[in-house]
Amino acid sequence: MLPIDTVRAAFPALALTDAGAPRLYLDAPAGTQVAGRVIDAMRDVMIGACANDGGLFRTSVQTGVIADTAVASAAAFFHCADDEVIFGMNTTSIFFQMAPLIAANWQAGDNILLTRMDHDANVSPWLQAAEARGVEVRFLEWDRDTFAFKLETLDQLIDSRTRAVAVGHASNFLGTVNDVAAVCAAARRVGAVSIVDAVQSAPHMALDVQAIGCDLLSASAYKFFGPHLGMAYVSKRLQGLIRPLKVRPSADVMPTRLMPGTPSFEAMAGTTAAIQHLAWLGELAGAIAPDAPLRQRLVAGLAAAQAHETELMRRFLAGIATVPGVTLHGIANANRLHERVATFTFELAGKGSTEVAQALADRNIFVWNGYYYAWEPAGVLGVKERGAVRVGFTHYNSLDEVDRFIAALGEIAGRA
Ligand SMILES: Cc1ncc(COP(=O)(O)O)c(C=O)c1O
Repeated sequence: MLPIDTVRAAFPALALTDAGAPRLYLDAPAGTQVAGRVIDAMRDVMIGACANDGGLFRTSVQTGVIADTAVASAAAFFHCADDEVIFGMNTTSIFFQMAPLIAANWQAGDNILLTRMDHDANVSPWLQAAEARGVEVRFLEWDRDTFAFKLETLDQLIDSRTRAVAVGHASNFLGTVNDVAAVCAAARRVGAVSIVDAVQSAPHMALDVQAIGCDLLSASAYKFFGPHLGMAYVSKRLQGLIRPLKVRPSADVMPTRLMPGTPSFEAMAGTTAAIQHLAWLGELAGAIAPDAPLRQRLVAGLAAAQAHETELMRRFLAGIATVPGVTLHGIANANRLHERVATFTFELAGKGSTEVAQALADRNIFVWNGYYYAWEPAGVLGVKERGAVRVGFTHYNSLDEVDRFIAALGEIAGRA
């Protein structure tokens, strides 16, 4: 079990109050709070090693070490080789950057497969590339009762002319965790490039690109307790298919060949520290020795986080069932919690999503309302106009916070 008080003490922002009222951060799916060690690492870099890399002097050499360490940490995070990792501004930018490279050989008569569950960051880049190449776009639908993909339709949707398949790992709207390995296997059978958006799964479970079997997978460090930075796994196969993003003098080696220009070294240092934070959770839960390899420690850390979040989900679902007028857009079955992350989107009868989010904000409870760029799923549910309320729990949230949220929502709903 995670010692929640020790975990919370690792996040400086959790101690803040406003006019005596504690802050209840339930906005994690849009961006988590930042671990103290991340803040320290970024500050240290910007004071002690602020230089470009590639020089012979102390700060430049240190910058090179910072970049190499970030690459190795990201490789442990994705479970891949060091020369299969790139960093970018964020996941949306990484997908927009990669889409024309991947689409370069698409021909009329080809098709690609996208989904009705994805955040638009994993839809629009591929849609635009398809439009530019005159390629058909197909969509994988999800079931309105189970909130899961209709995987049985994959065989009709994917054929020998399918060039790419883009799928989300965990939904930022429904919270569903998808069987991305099955989707990628179907893509692989026809030689299509498989793309996975792991932005919403990364904070909640260990990623394993080898088990998933994808070609491109992206996550964003600001969703897993780090700074604003995107990072991606690019398979060797995909590297061989695409033209590098090179200026003439730059080295044609990974990651430089797919990372044009000077990166944010300070954010890379912060991302290393965020990954270290996840590894520390494993030690804290007593699940792993501090000298075990990074990959093992972070897998143990995320398992401990997941166990804690499962308890939060159980408490949330039991609580929200007592609030009158709630419609939850996602898995509510306590036996299916392994199929979701702790991201819950709901509507409250008779109240607009803005009204509910404002009433919660007035109580210093931070939640999102709207549809959070989940254009496709919000369209399926018909809530793009009116929006819905989203709360997201992560390993730094406590059971008491779940209770506080439920009590506030009950008040807003006019529970007797
Ligand atoms: C599932 C998912 N994919 C992609 C993104 C976009 O990530 P970024 O802001 O790093 O571009 C988000 C952001 O909320 C997301 O939730």
